[in-house]
Amino acid sequence: MSERVFITGASSGLGAAMAREYARRGATIGLASRRKPEMEVLADEIHQAGGTSFIYVLDVSDYSACREAAESFLESTGGIDTVIANAGVSGTDGITSGDLHKIKTILDTNISGVVHTLFSFLPTLRKQKSGRVVFISSVAGYRALPGRSGYSASKAAIRFLADGWRPVLARDSISLTTICPGFIKTPMTEDHSFPMPFLMDAETAAKKMIAAIDARKRIYIFPWQWRSVIPLMKSIPASWIDWLFSLGNR
Ligand SMILES: NC(=O)c1ccc[n+]([C@@H]2O[C@H](COP(=O)([O-])OP(=O)(O)OC[C@H]3O[C@@H](n4cnc5c(N)ncnc54)[C@H](OP(=O)(O)O)[C@@H]3O)[C@@H](O)[C@H]2O)c1
Repeated sequence: MSERVFITGASSGLGAAMAREYARRGATIGLASRRKPEMEVLADEIHQAGGTSFIYVLDVSDYSACREAAESFLESTGGIDTVIANAGVSGTDGITSGDLHKIKTILDTNISGVVHTLFSFLPTLRKQKSGRVVFISSVAGYRALPGRSGYSASKAAIRFLADGWRPVLARDSISLTTICPGFIKTPMTEDHSFPMPFLMDAETAAKKMIAAIDARKRIYIFPWQWRSVIPLMKSIPASWIDWLFSLGNR
C-alpha cells in the first residue's frame, strides 16, 4: 500500500513542492486549496512522477468543506499516514486602514484552517492509532512584526496548540511535528522588498521538511542559522524594536 498524504495549500509554494517530493516516493496525495487549475497541473506532474493524487477545491476556513474532503480522501484510500496543515496567508493586518477583512483572513486561514484540517482527520487517526500530523508555523512566530503581528500571532498560536496537543495525540501513537521555516522562495515571499537572510529554494525546503516529518521531530526550525537567531530575536527589548520601527515613520 502506498503512503497516503493529505496536504492543504497544495496549489503553490511549499505545499506543491512537498507534493512533488512525496510523488517521487510513489505516494497517494490529497491536494487541497482554493485554486483548481494549479492543482490540476500539479496532479499531472504527480502522475508522471509515479504518484497518485486527488484534488479538493476548498477554503480551509470552512470546516464542513474540510470534513467533506477528508471523508472523500479516506473513502478512496482507506486511511491516512500524514496530514500536513500547510495552507497559510501573510500580509499586513489593516490596523491603519481599519480593513477588518485582512486580519480576519489571516487568523481564519492560519489558525482555524489548521485546526479544521486536523479535526477533519482526527477520528480516523485516533481509530487507526497511527499517523503523522504536521503544522507549518514560521520563525516569524517567535517575534511580533510591527503591522504584521497577525501573521506572527497566528504562527505562534499553532505552535502553542501543537505543544499542548502533541503529548495527548502521542497516547494514540500519532506524532505532531511543528515546522518553522525561515525565508523560503515561494509566491508568498516574491514581493517582499526587505532583506531575506538565509533564503532557501522551495525544493530544498520540501526535502528537509519531509525528512523532519519522517523522523517525527517535535519542532523543526530551518534553515539551521535561525536556530541561533531566534534566541537573539526573543531577547531584544520591545522598546528597541519600537524605536527601530519608529525611525521608518519619520
Ligand atoms: N515562504 C516562506 O518564506 C514561509 C516561511 C515560513 C512559513 N511559511 C508558511 O508556509 C506555508 C506555505 O506558504 P508558501 O510560502 O508556500 O506560500 P504560497 O505559495 O502563497 O502558498 C500558500 C498556499 O496556501 C493556500 N491557501 C491560502 N489560503 C487558503 C485557504 N483559505 N484555503 C485553502 N488554501 C489556502 C494557497 O492556495 P490557494 O490560493 O489556491 O487557496 C497556497 O496553495 C504557509 O503556511 C506559510 O505561512 C512560509
